[in-house]
Amino acid sequence: MQFSRIHLLLIYTYLVTAKQPSAPSAVEAPLRELPWGQLNFLHTTDTHGWHGGHLQEPQYSADWGDYISFASHLRRRADKDGSDLLLIDTGDRVEGNGLYDASDPKGNYTSDIFTQQSMDVITVGNHELYKNTTSSHEYAKLVPAYKDSYIASNLNITSKNGDSIPFGPRYRKFTTRNQGIRVLAMGFIYNFRGNANNTQVQKVQDTIKEPWFQDAIRNRDVDLFLIAGHVALRNTSEAEYDKIYDAIRLENWDTPIAFFGGHTHIRDFKRFGRGTEKKAYGIESGRYLETYGFMSISGLSTKSKDVSTTVASPKFERLYIDNNLYSLHCHSNTSSSNFDTELGKNVSASIATARKTLALDRPFGCAPQDYWLYRSPYPSNHSVLSLLEEHVIPDTFTDKNSSHNPAIVLTNTGAVRFDVFKGPFTKDTTYIVCPFTSTFRMIKNVPYDAASRVMKALNSGGPILLGDEAGDTEATYEDWLGLRPPGPVRESDLTADHAEDDLSSFTRGAGEQRPLRSSNKDKSRITPGYTTTDDFGDDGDDTIHEPIPLYKVPNIIGAEIGFSSDDKAKDLPKNVDLVFNEYIQGFTLAALKQLGVSYGLENTRQALDGMTMTDVISGWVEKNWKCEKDVA
Ligand SMILES: *[C@@H]1O[C@H](CO)[C@@H](O)[C@H](O)[C@H]1NC(C)=O
Ligand SMILES: *[C@@H]1O[C@H](CO)[C@@H](O)[C@H](O)[C@H]1NC(C)=O
Ligand SMILES: *[C@@H]1O[C@H](CO)[C@@H](O)[C@H](O)[C@H]1NC(C)=O
Ligand SMILES: *[C@@H]1O[C@H](CO)[C@@H](O)[C@H](O)[C@H]1NC(C)=O
Ligand SMILES: *[C@@H]1O[C@H](CO)[C@@H](O)[C@H](O)[C@H]1NC(C)=O
Ligand SMILES: *[C@@H]1O[C@H](CO)[C@@H](O)[C@H](O)[C@H]1NC(C)=O
Ligand SMILES: *[C@@H]1O[C@H](CO)[C@@H](O)[C@H](O)[C@H]1NC(C)=O
Ligand SMILES: *[C@@H]1O[C@H](CO)[C@@H](O)[C@H](O)[C@H]1NC(C)=O
Ligand SMILES: *[C@@H]1O[C@H](CO)[C@@H](O)[C@H](O)[C@H]1NC(C)=O
Repeated sequence: MQFSRIHLLLIYTYLVTAKQPSAPSAVEAPLRELPWGQLNFLHTTDTHGWHGGHLQEPQYSADWGDYISFASHLRRRADKDGSDLLLIDTGDRVEGNGLYDASDPKGNYTSDIFTQQSMDVITVGNHELYKNTTSSHEYAKLVPAYKDSYIASNLNITSKNGDSIPFGPRYRKFTTRNQGIRVLAMGFIYNFRGNANNTQVQKVQDTIKEPWFQDAIRNRDVDLFLIAGHVALRNTSEAEYDKIYDAIRLENWDTPIAFFGGHTHIRDFKRFGRGTEKKAYGIESGRYLETYGFMSISGLSTKSKDVSTTVASPKFERLYIDNNLYSLHCHSNTSSSNFDTELGKNVSASIATARKTLALDRPFGCAPQDYWLYRSPYPSNHSVLSLLEEHVIPDTFTDKNSSHNPAIVLTNTGAVRFDVFKGPFTKDTTYIVCPFTSTFRMIKNVPYDAASRVMKALNSGGPILLGDEAGDTEATYEDWLGLRPPGPVRESDLTADHAEDDLSSFTRGAGEQRPLRSSNKDKSRITPGYTTTDDFGDDGDDTIHEPIPLYKVPNIIGAEIGFSSDDKAKDLPKNVDLVFNEYIQGFTLAALKQLGVSYGLENTRQALDGMTMTDVISGWVEKNWKCEKDVA
């Protein structure tokens, strides 16, 4: 820990003005300073509709309007001291929050809100491509809004007359405004296969053979290659970024390369290459508007000054900024009196209006306690998965018993996206916890022996079973985990079932639990949150946090319903109805086949009258969790 870098702002009081009206105020905490350099970047990724910020977590409570104000202050700083600032977003802007999901059509508000922030490089994520309506909307709204900055190096869309055409320019070459750094930027999506048939993803290994790519990397008038994309920096089965890195270095041995990644929802910073390579680094900047990734590079050549012969290698630095006003004020040397810009304030107001129109704060009920996805062991009384398995699913299916058979009900844990906090469970919460529209399917009269083993098969089969048998031939493990942040990615950080995880922590800022008292010592102002370890060490988080323990969860959970309760062992049914989330239909059929009973799609039928998991959860909350009148 570098204390020289740490701001201890002991007396820093301000009235919070922007952010969403019901969002909690940020909490003071010891901060590390922004490592400002010659060329500076702000990076967002996997925001998934959270542009209104986190209304129940002080640590992440600023909104997209605040980000606009923040970027404007840093841009002014760059103009003042002659450095440069570039903004980057690497996709998955949609699905996962009521602000996006609750409107009809989905995203009716978020695209206008998002595009108020200017971007220098923006790319697509897999969530923009699952449905043809989402990608069409993206192509109609965001691509024109960002023009040359919306880069699609390996993505096409089917045009009105049926041709496959580039989704955006394949690359962008530009010169930074103050330093005159010549940047060649590309924008990728990982080798994704689950897209609707109106878009075409070209595999990265094929894209790097394209003449345009080969020409681009041979360009000598480039001071920096900027590779942005919805691609994890490491531990991907296809190693997309390593392939790009190798391809560039094969032709160009020393031009610096900056990677910007996403998809796995973690904070990470990686050194690329082997041996003495010191000019290629990448950052990944978390998820859900919890994090603004900051990276700086100093010592780059510019169009008028070639430093490649005098300076051995440029200096890369990084900082992961927690999205709250305390951090944003400190890093921009502003206070509540001069932080908001007019545009930023307008955007915060548009978000508030959209939230109101969509009635996102309407409560279904009030949660009596916190339920965690990863922060409590599974099974346990504080696990949201246990809540589903022991209460929500059994209650719902027993109420809706139309089959008159005992049943086994399975769902992928990826269907659950986030924690449930004590207090109001609102319309917004339903989308946050479960944004997916997948319904339930069932097969009647499955031999109990096979049905009871499906869950185990799916929890141990992993990618092999899925890859070979699942119909969607090349579903990757990430695809299959479905949209769930894969959780901890470094296996070495995990003990058997418990991780003091440092890459993918989920934080509830402790403001409500431990309000700041001015007499507190520093130590007691440290709140739980991200404590990232990356290739540069453990000093990357702007806020010094206490680590949060995380626990592994299985891929699939399930409940047995309508079994005689007296003596399960003696009284096992011969046949059961096997009910499952539609999302895992292919995998369930594959597992059954492996267990010796074959069923086809024609054997499946709709269950629960077409209710989605979101409906199931909100219906259960409405029935079971009352709000005490005076608790609000
Ligand atoms: C979409 O939002 C606009 C305001 O931004 C509103 O006027 C319009 O009615 C909305 N459309 C739908 C279908 O909700
Ligand atoms: C979009 O997909 C839906 C089904 O997923 C299909 O019915 C519709 O025809 C598709 N639209 C276009 C323009 O391809
Ligand atoms: C993408 O579009 C280009 C230009 O129309 C075309 O040449 C190429 O074959 C398309 N790629 C794919 C994967 O369809
Ligand atoms: C795309 O899929 C839709 C159904 O989702 C189908 O109607 C359409 O024919 C498909 N288009 C192509 C070009 O395969
Ligand atoms: C993840 O990638 C790193 C290299 O970046 C490697 O050292 C590590 O072993 C990988 N972990 C897993 C679980 O594959
Ligand atoms: C921060 O802003 C104040 C004025 O608001 C100014 O006096 C001071 O020099 C600034 N500090 C830095 C490091 O820019
Ligand atoms: C902010 O909103 C006000 C009122 O709608 C409008 O007059 C003003 O032009 C907007 N400013 C910016 C920078 O968008
Ligand atoms: C969990 O909840 C059940 C039922 O409310 C209770 O009986 C049990 O004691 C709780 N267990 C723990 C460890 O709190
Ligand atoms: C449905 O109800 C019947 C009795 O009416 C019972 O035997 C059966 O186990 C129940 N099934 C489920 C899934 O609740």
